[in-house]
This record gives sequence, C-alpha cells and structure tokens, in this order.
Amino acid sequence: MKPEIEKISEISINQSVICIIGSDHIPETLALSKTEMQFANDRLMAKDDSVFINSYNKCIYLVRLKERTSHYKVREELRKSASVLLKRIKENNHSELVITSDNAYKGAIEDFAEGLLLSSYSFNKYKTKPETPDKNNYPSKLLLYGDIDDSDLKWLVDLSDATFFARDLVNEPVNHLNASGLAGEIKKAGDAAGFSVEILTKGKIEALKMGGLLAVNKGSIDPPVFCILEWHPDNCLNDKPIVLVGKGVVYDTGGLNIKTGDYMAGMNGDMAGAAAVTGVLSAVAKSGIPLHVIGLVPSTDNRPGGNAYTQGDIITMHNKLTVEIGNTDAEGRLLLADALSYASRYSPELIIDIATLTGSAAMTFGNQAIAIMTNADRKYINLLEESGNEVYERIAELPLWEEYGELLKSDVADLNNVGGREAGAIFAGKFLERFTEFPLIHMDIAGTSLLKKDDFYRKKHGTGSGLRLLATFLKRLAASYSEKKV
Ligand code: BES
Ligand code: ZN
Ligand code: ZN
Repeated sequence: MKPEIEKISEISINQSVICIIGSDHIPETLALSKTEMQFANDRLMAKDDSVFINSYNKCIYLVRLKERTSHYKVREELRKSASVLLKRIKENNHSELVITSDNAYKGAIEDFAEGLLLSSYSFNKYKTKPETPDKNNYPSKLLLYGDIDDSDLKWLVDLSDATFFARDLVNEPVNHLNASGLAGEIKKAGDAAGFSVEILTKGKIEALKMGGLLAVNKGSIDPPVFCILEWHPDNCLNDKPIVLVGKGVVYDTGGLNIKTGDYMAGMNGDMAGAAAVTGVLSAVAKSGIPLHVIGLVPSTDNRPGGNAYTQGDIITMHNKLTVEIGNTDAEGRLLLADALSYASRYSPELIIDIATLTGSAAMTFGNQAIAIMTNADRKYINLLEESGNEVYERIAELPLWEEYGELLKSDVADLNNVGGREAGAIFAGKFLERFTEFPLIHMDIAGTSLLKKDDFYRKKHGTGSGLRLLATFLKRLAASYSEKKV
C-alpha cells in the first residue's frame, strides 16, 4: 500500500529516522549515544553506504549519498537505496518513519521518499487472503523533516499517485478491463483530477471512419472506444495544445497472426501508453500545470475472432490513406495512426505518442531506455532528454531518415503496415509519421513498460513507464513559457 506522506516541523525523541547524509559527518540532532556514534563512524569509515542502528526505543538509518559523475545519477542512486532499504523497514515493522537529511542536496528527502513510495507498490487486489506475515502496510506514513517546498511535495504525491494508478491499469487482466472498462477508468480519473473526458463509442468511430481502429476491433466481441481527455486551464500559456496519444490495446493476441510461444504473456499491458497518458493528465491537472493538454486514447483488444481482419486486407484510414495489412500483429500503429490524424483538428503545437509498439525497441534498448523518434524541434527533445535524466526514465533516439520510408511501400495500397525484418522500431515510427503534418515525438515503451522482475522501485509487470517523464516534461515546458512571458 502507498504510504501517506506529510511534512513535520520537529522530530520527537522516540521516532525512527532515516537520515540521508552528504558526508561522513553524523548530525548531532540524531542524539546518538557514544557507542552508537562510534559504531556508525566505523561503518562509514569502512565505506558502508548505509548504517542501521537499533536503539532501544527506535531505529536510526543513515544513508550516505553515493559519489557519481552527474547529479542525476546521484539522485537515482538515492531512489534505489530507498527501495533496498524498504525490505529492512518492513522487517522492522515501522508504521511511521521520519526522513531527513544533513549536508545533502536540496530535494534529497523528496527523492528518497519517491524511491520508497514507488517501491511500496504491489498489485494484490485479487488475492482473497493477505500474505503472511502481512507487511503490506509498512510503513504507512512518511514524515518529512527538512527544507521542502510545499509545491515540490504536492508534485511528488501527485506523480506517485498517478504512477500507482497507471500501474494498476496496466496490471489489470483483460477479463476485468476491456476497452469500455478502460474508458470508464479514464472517466473516473478525469472526475477525480479535474480534466474532462469524452468517450466516443463505436457508432461515432464508424462515422469518423477510423479504419485502423475498426479493423483491429473486427475480431473482438467488445466494441472499441476512443477517449478524448482534455486539460484546458484558464491560465494556460500555450495557444495551441500539446496532444498526447496513448496506445490502448487492452489485449494483444496478435490477431490472426497470433503470437506463439510465450510472446502473448503480459499482453494485457499493451495499453501501457494509454495508462501513461491518463496518469500524465491526472498529475498535470491535479498540480494545475498552466498548459492546454489533450490526451487521445484509441482502445480495443486484438483477437482472431470470426470476422477478424486478415493479412492482405486493405483498409482506409481516418485520413483516407489506404493500408495493406502485412501482419495483424502490427495493430498498434493502425489505431495510433487514426488518432494522429484526428489530432490535426486541434492544430497542435506538438504531438507525442506513447506506445508498447515493437519488440524491436525492446530488443534494441532492453528495459533501460525509451526509444524515441522525432521530427520535432530540438528544443523539445533537449527538454525531454533533461526531464528523462531527472526522473531517470531516459530516452534514446532512433533516426527517421527518409530512406527508411522505402520500406513502407505496398504494391496494392498507399502503404503497408509492416516492413522487412530489420529496423522494426524505425519502420513503425516512419509509418506513424505519415499520418500527421504536425511535429511528432514517437515514444516506444515496449522495453520499459512491462518488467518480468523487480528492478529496484520499478516493480515487476506494469512500471508506469513514460508517465513521470512526460509529466515532468510538461511541467518544465510550462515553466519555460512563463519565463518568456515575464
Ligand atoms: N504489442 C506488440 C509489441 C510488444 C512486444 C510490446 C513486446 C511489449 C512487449 C506489438 O503490437 C507487436 O506485436 N509488434 C510486432 C510488430 C511486427 C509484427 C511487425 C513486433 O514487434 O513483433
Ligand atoms: Zn501486436
Ligand atoms: Zn500490440
């Protein structure tokens, strides 16, 4: 369970404390006894990065910052050490814990708290009995003591809440969350955070001639949905909106080109892009970021049902381009393409799509980087890269050179939905590029959104990939606009 978090103005004598230290100096405020002090000093001299002291009525944990060549790596090490320490905290049954710092950088307490918060996630709503011993509620409260801005704390809470929400959505199996169910969850999130949600159902999607979304949906007995999320505050600083598009495939069997072997495992998470977009809008709306942001989520499952679309079908997309289906498992780009062309009606400043799109991106970067492809101005990419380092959801760019466009050719239609065996992630990016005239950043999160095992505070299964990155990007973009207006 997610611990509550609050700021405190003093530490009482019997509270257990985690103190992040930026040097070997042990602060007097911890009031350690002489022998405890000696022990802690010895451990620090022996180059231990964390020291645990079990006083008789409380515990003290010292966590020393690690030396790294860049500040953002120091920050990430701190988040990771929080996730390592969480095991010990649970063993010691702390329900409340103080987090403070001495000689560390500003923001260290928040970073450590973020590591603890994100590590405390688990998906156990379908377990009818708690595990024994049940450590799920430890710690239930984090008390932050130090120089912390209220707005930073609010951002931390909003972002981690949104991440929990997105992870929950990704982890839901399709028998509990089909496309309409996803739309319902998005609506609930909108009501809670204060952004508007419009849900287009099948009739409207047909009227809009979204041939990509409708083709993928043909094998399903559940109807598709197309959700429009909007945050448009009175004080917004951009004239044209930023549009976020999230892939909402609630289950990807591959369709008639069915996934074999173990490749279907986890494909209830093929809507991780949609979850990230919804989470970003939640965080941005709750924190009142002064930007006009629109989210588009096309959603369906992809199945080999009786009337399923087939290899060789030729479909007409929302923007009238025709596509030959080379493989029914390349479904994500079809519904994203419809959403990208739908986005034109907003004359967006920038479109960012986020999708579990290709095994190729996962093969290239593993789970360490989000693959991006873009034709947008470098100012956006630089900001995205900095935001990525800040939250440690790093991006790595693949090219969209025009030569790759050759692969898109079809004998019978305007383009094919698959290219050759090579450069699969780039091919998908080139395909999407054809469906918008507006600047595009395409983010492929196939490698980062679904983990087979825990990686520190990125818990196994849905990670919430791209959410903290995009929310931070938008926050910083708004800040850069307000600087210009001053
Ligand atoms: N949803 C998958 C991509 C995926 C793979 C996401 C692994 C997460 C983990 C996507 O729809 C897909 O099946 N892509 C195919 C495209 C191919 C048929 C051109 C792929 O990458 O194999
Ligand atoms: Zn697929
Ligand atoms: Zn897919």
